[in-house]
Amino acid sequence: MLFLTNSLRHHKYALSVLLIAGLSQAQTAPLIANINGRQTTTLNGAWHVIVDPYDVGKLDYHARPLKNNNAFFKDHKPQSKSELVEYDFDHSPQLNVPGDWNTQRDTLLFYEGTVWYKQTFDYHKSAGERLFLYFGGANYQVDVYLNGELLGHHEGGFTPFDFEITDRVRESGNFVIVRVNDTRSADQVPALTADWWNYGGITRPVTLIRVPQNFIQDYFLQLEKGSTRNLRGWVHLNGPKLQQSVTIRIPEMGLTKVFPTDEHGRAQILLDANVTPWSPENPKLYKVEIAADTDRVVEDIGFRSIETRGKDILLNGMPVFLRGISIHEESPSRPARAWSEDDAKTLLGWAKELGCNFVRLAHYPHNEAMLRMADQMGLMVWAEIPVYWNIQWGSPQTLLNAENQLREMIARDHNRASVIIYSVANETEVSPTRNSFLRQLIQDAHLSDPTRLVSAALQSQEVARGDRIVVSIDDPIANDLDVLGNNEYIGWYVHTPADADRTDWISNYDKPLIMSEFGGDALFGYHADELTRWSEEYQESLYQHQIAMLKRIPFLRGMTPWILKDFRSPRRTLPGIQDYFNRKGLVNEHGDKKKAFFVLQKFYQEVQGAQTH
Ligand code: GCU
Repeated sequence: MLFLTNSLRHHKYALSVLLIAGLSQAQTAPLIANINGRQTTTLNGAWHVIVDPYDVGKLDYHARPLKNNNAFFKDHKPQSKSELVEYDFDHSPQLNVPGDWNTQRDTLLFYEGTVWYKQTFDYHKSAGERLFLYFGGANYQVDVYLNGELLGHHEGGFTPFDFEITDRVRESGNFVIVRVNDTRSADQVPALTADWWNYGGITRPVTLIRVPQNFIQDYFLQLEKGSTRNLRGWVHLNGPKLQQSVTIRIPEMGLTKVFPTDEHGRAQILLDANVTPWSPENPKLYKVEIAADTDRVVEDIGFRSIETRGKDILLNGMPVFLRGISIHEESPSRPARAWSEDDAKTLLGWAKELGCNFVRLAHYPHNEAMLRMADQMGLMVWAEIPVYWNIQWGSPQTLLNAENQLREMIARDHNRASVIIYSVANETEVSPTRNSFLRQLIQDAHLSDPTRLVSAALQSQEVARGDRIVVSIDDPIANDLDVLGNNEYIGWYVHTPADADRTDWISNYDKPLIMSEFGGDALFGYHADELTRWSEEYQESLYQHQIAMLKRIPFLRGMTPWILKDFRSPRRTLPGIQDYFNRKGLVNEHGDKKKAFFVLQKFYQEVQGAQTH
């Protein structure tokens, strides 16, 4: 809490007390790790929905919260032929879950507001078991009800949340009602404007998780920074019997060790192991078994160390160059929110085809399938929270929200070897409140996970020196970061592509730089000379000049050009060219490769040839 001004700290403390008090009746449960490794029942499928632009399901005509049967969460049915009930989920249309609502119905493409979802299920609960309702993610504000009662609220469109329903579930006829609202507002994260589609809805899987009374809530195990043998971490139990022992087994290493848990159900883990490190060339994953008295979870974990030394980034102690690409979470088969393993396999497959060993998952935490696929395919990951452009820096509530999204992202992905960098911001204007806001996030990330690097996509200043353009990385928070990220659009928003040839970069920091964005738009199939905007030749030439410039930056240790695939954006209206798509992709929304794709591929082949790993 070093960096916050007194008033912000005071407000933040007061607010967190209020928030926690306010939510104590109904709040999300601590996140359960690795739901794939649990006993689960899916609630995916067709859900009945009511599109409710005026929130009549929640508020009366004077905008007062409804408590009577008109409230949609009651799912009330008329009890007599004369009773007035103006909603009926069971005769309402359906939408698929997981899935954004925008691309499932033409009338909802631009829709922002409230949609109510209903799903039913029967459930036979065995004695001594506990039941959780888990959401992989839903955009943006979510209220979840079970059998007419509020379970809780979640804010943030890209991280998971769950609720314990052990004492609320019944044998049959359970009904889950979810109010999802994606109206943008200045105090949210992200805030009012962004260059991606505000896909609304229950965009990720919904799952019932059955666990024993005492269960393994979460765990973390990774190679200590700079170590090749020390596996360090913890296990956290949940239940009435917290003090017991947990056993960690890694059969392939012939390792089995028992650790006691303390009165909080937490065991500190340290193992001396003979590890084959995870790397893009050899994405080695080990089966790790974590067992407690009444619970057992198996997880696939790769062990690798990631650190910086001066301007170098070291993977498993060796300098590495991050050959990357930026990716939005849009399905490769159709411009809609991606969520599945197949989506991940295709998108990351294209990145591999480019010759990448690294991907920037922009600008928010992508679905878990993407991270697990990156583990398997051997792609290092830059993971990011949507602290993007204009955030309400002075608002304690907005800071708590950003901190919560960061915490949830780290909690879900801290066992993914692929994740090497957490990014806390993208293109945010320097100011004292912004600086302290971001410093708080950087501190939070380092505290909750000391094994990874923290970065942010900064913006640089340029000066003209004779006929040279000199760009310097200079940002008050750069000293707090492990790795500097920088977005630049030389050749698109500023200057011409050829001006990159007379551009030099300087940095005031003894830190590695990742050029986290550069690029330009091109419409696939539109061919012209290299000076004609929107043509493939313009984009191709821009990449050629960029790569020549990037090669000359002595402290550059990675890059994630903007972007792998054309993606939907409400900011891109040019008819016949953009049609609400950002066209900076190296492939278009159908997967067709543009000329620049091959320019970058050729460069990465060169780098790979020269790289030790
Ligand atoms: C920005 C921003 C991206 C955006 C890109 C663009 O730098 O970070 O979200 O899509 O530029 O303008 O295409």
